[in-house]
Amino acid sequence: MKLVPKIDLEKCIGDAVCEAMCPDVFEMADDDKAHVINPDGCGELCDCEEAAEACPTEAIILEEVEEEE
Ligand code: F3S
Repeated sequence: MKLVPKIDLEKCIGDAVCEAMCPDVFEMADDDKAHVINPDGCGELCDCEEAAEACPTEAIILEEVEEEE
């Protein structure tokens, strides 16, 4: 199983702590919201669960997916 992050743009208020913690996975865009730039980055590049907990509006959704062989 691996975690794939998504941003709920309705909930995101542009706090940017996700980008600060995981710049290889989340990036702030022109809309002042976070966007996922590397959905495969959880684990090696980023502790996505920690980032999701740090987001003040719980806008980071982590989806568990089966790992491809
Ligand atoms: Fe948005 Fe939360 Fe990141 S509010 S910018 S998803 S820390």
